[in-house]
Amino acid sequence: MTQQQSLTLSNPIISQKEIQQTIESLADKINQAYAGLTEPLIGLIILEGANRFASDLLKSLNINIDCSSIQVKSYQGTESTGQVELCQSMNLDIAEKCILIIDDIYDTGRTLRYLIDYFKRSGASEIKTCVLWEKNIPHEVPVHIDFCGRKVPNQFLVGYGLDYNGQYRDLDYIAVLE
Ligand code: IMP
Ligand code: MG
Repeated sequence: MTQQQSLTLSNPIISQKEIQQTIESLADKINQAYAGLTEPLIGLIILEGANRFASDLLKSLNINIDCSSIQVKSYQGTESTGQVELCQSMNLDIAEKCILIIDDIYDTGRTLRYLIDYFKRSGASEIKTCVLWEKNIPHEVPVHIDFCGRKVPNQFLVGYGLDYNGQYRDLDYIAVLE
């Protein structure tokens, strides 16, 4: 899809209610997995897309978790540039810490691969991944996802944090930009 084509927004493909149900069941799995954790887990929220998801997820978590955020960029319009850029460095010492990466969507896998490698180099003792959506495709850079909300079709999605050049993040549902 090129930037010149005019894009239209579809009807919702995932409703606000379905999003909240997906987050509830994801939170249940995370609560079970980390029950009995002695040291606080470090939740790293990947800005800006995962902000809204993370804030709803945290309301349903009953574990010992401290959160921080990190901003990366890899998309220009509806296309992945193939390069992951760290826009803002992390001012947190994660050496020997258990990390949970919280991201909006697993698409090519480049962002998660980049972050996993980055946190490993920073000395994290355990790194797990949590995404709300996973595109139903063979990922270019496969990574292990520990907690996944649900699979979504291989289309360019917007809403509930997912944007197109900064637009549509505020939609309460998920739609396709086609
Ligand atoms: P990946 O590195 O290709 O896996 O993509 C990671 C990032 O690209 C996600 O965290 C999103 O911010 C963005 N992204 C991927 N697919 C979509 C989409 O369909 N709509 C909006 N943003 C997307
Ligand atoms: Mg993102």
